[in-house]
This record gives sequence, structure tokens and C-alpha cells, in this order.
Amino acid sequence: MGDVNISSLLHAGYAHPTSRAWQSQSRNLTKSMFMYPIFICDEPDAAKELSSMPGQKRWGVNQLEGFLGPLVKKGLGSVILFGVPEKKPKDPVGTLADDPEGPVIQAIKTIKKHFPELYVACDVCLCEYTSHGHCGILHQDGTINNTPSVHRLAQVAVNYARAGADCVAPSDMMDGRVRAIKQALADAGLGGRATLMAYSAKFASGLYGPFRDAVDSAPSFGDRKCYQLPPTARGLARRAIQRDANEGADIVMVKPTLPYLDIVADARQLVPDHPLACYQVSGEFAMIHAGARAGVYELRRMAEESVQSMVRAGATLILSYFTPDFLDWLDEPQ
Ligand code: PBG
Ligand code: ZN
Repeated sequence: MGDVNISSLLHAGYAHPTSRAWQSQSRNLTKSMFMYPIFICDEPDAAKELSSMPGQKRWGVNQLEGFLGPLVKKGLGSVILFGVPEKKPKDPVGTLADDPEGPVIQAIKTIKKHFPELYVACDVCLCEYTSHGHCGILHQDGTINNTPSVHRLAQVAVNYARAGADCVAPSDMMDGRVRAIKQALADAGLGGRATLMAYSAKFASGLYGPFRDAVDSAPSFGDRKCYQLPPTARGLARRAIQRDANEGADIVMVKPTLPYLDIVADARQLVPDHPLACYQVSGEFAMIHAGARAGVYELRRMAEESVQSMVRAGATLILSYFTPDFLDWLDEPQ
């Protein structure tokens, strides 16, 4: 334990045909650039509309084959999974995150069974699974207890990778979790296979509202300002990006995207040799839909302009709820 030189681990960044495509640093919009975020709940037959996110649903594992099949046919290359436990009780350490019978582990196995080529990433965080709704484990006084948080996150990441996930993506913003997860993956013999995509510059944004409704993860007290970055903090964002690259991240991410394109451009320049992801978050998606509904612009045109700006700023991978739309739009002439 502890003797792996983290920066020497490169294989996990190109173990899969999809992750190999991300190493080409294309500046043209392609289908393989899109990663589709999907919500999985523990009611196996569920397909529940999310009122704040047009067209998005909470899916049960039995629905995944029928839902993803047509998208895979159209060229869907990757998904990122978010678990929404509805039935079992949450606890302070997020035991449900890697429950072998829980939605994420079950979904990984189901997707890999039906679509072995589809690249499966998993969001790694505790907020959907903790009774208090924070992203880490807390001290008595309600502040983040970083060391056990990082330990628990690493455990969850290893269990997702063991279940077959191609990528683990910590979104918790605890200090030192990238190194701890990379190390734990290596110790578990998964260091060459499981990509680590770090939510590196994740800001405390007003744009996560629809997501928190979707996964029921709003904190029960306080907010996330002590671990997510202040919106004004360009310097901190730059340090976080460099830190995560140094700690062994295979992919770095900026989130949200549209109000933070300067940070995307900074990241491109700070870590020019890493695939660079950006997350067009729930509030950005809802905002583009709302504007289109209000007649401010045409939906497709604005969605395209938004992702074109990300690619222009330097992103090579885009997490977006518009992914199914782009699989169609990229096949049609403008
Ligand atoms: C949880 C997490 C969040 C998102 C991804 N992972 C929300 C948050 O930090 O509150 C946001 C995704 C979105 O808004 O689409 N750590
Ligand atoms: Zn979280």
C-alpha cells in the first residue's frame, strides 16, 4: 500500500475504445464527446418524469435495456450514473452508496450485460445517500470530517469499479480524494482499468437545483460552500485543477459550464495533456429549455451554441442532458 507512483499510472485513461477517443483532443463536436447523465432509482420498473428537467426520468434497472438500446444504436458512447435510493433508510456515512443491491451497482451490472461496449461512469459522492445530505462524513458540530470522508469515498469508488464501472468520478470536493481513490484502485488491482474523472473545479452554484430535486440530495442543514468553490474564485479553481492532475486524475472537469467558460479555458492551458470534461448541469439544461419555451430562442440552436462554446474554450468531453438530442442533431444537416 502507498508505494504506487500515482503519476505513472496512465493505462486507466485509455483502457476503453471510448476513453481512447477522448485522447485525440478533437476540437470538432462528435458523438463520442457526449456523456449522458442518468438517474437510477431502486424501484426496478420505474420511469418517473422529473418535472424540473424536461424529458429526464428516474429509471429502474428493468427499464435500462429498453431506454438505452435506441440511444446506443444512434451512437451513444458513454453514460454517468447517479443513484437515487428511495426505499432504504439513509445514514450518516452513506452506506447505501455501494449497497450491492442498490441502484448504482445493479445498474452497472445490467448495463454491462446488455451493452458491454457502452462506457459506464459512476458519480462518486455521498450526498444522495447520507441522512444529512452532505457530500462527506461530518463532525459532531456539522462540519466536514475530511479523513473518514476520503476513506469512504475511496471504498465506494473501488466497489463501483469492481462491479464493472469503466470510470469513477468523485464530485464530493473533499481534499485529497483523488489521490486516495487512485491509490485504492491500484491496491485493488483496478489501476489499469478504471478511469478517474475528477470534478476538479466544481463551484457552489445556483444551477444544481433541478438535480437536487431529481436525486433528493439537498442538504438538510447549511450549504456546500465550505467544500464547493466560491463562484468568484478563479485562483482556487486553477489550484484545484492542478492539484487533481498531480494527484493522478485521468480526466479533469469544470462544473457548471456556461458561467465558468474562463475556467474551462484556464484548465485547457493548465493541463493541456489531459482530456478536459465540462458538465452542463441541470440548471443550465432547464434554463435553455425555459428560454426556448418562452420564445426567447430556438431550442436546438441555443443547445448547439452552448456546447460549441465549451468546445471552443477547450473541452473535449461534455456531460449533458441534451446528449440524446445531439445524437439526432449530429446526424442531421443544420
Ligand atoms: C453531487 C452532485 C451534484 C451534481 C453532480 N453531482 C449536485 C450538488 O453538488 O449539489 C450536479 C449535477 C447537475 O446539476 O446536473 N455531488
Ligand atoms: Zn455530493
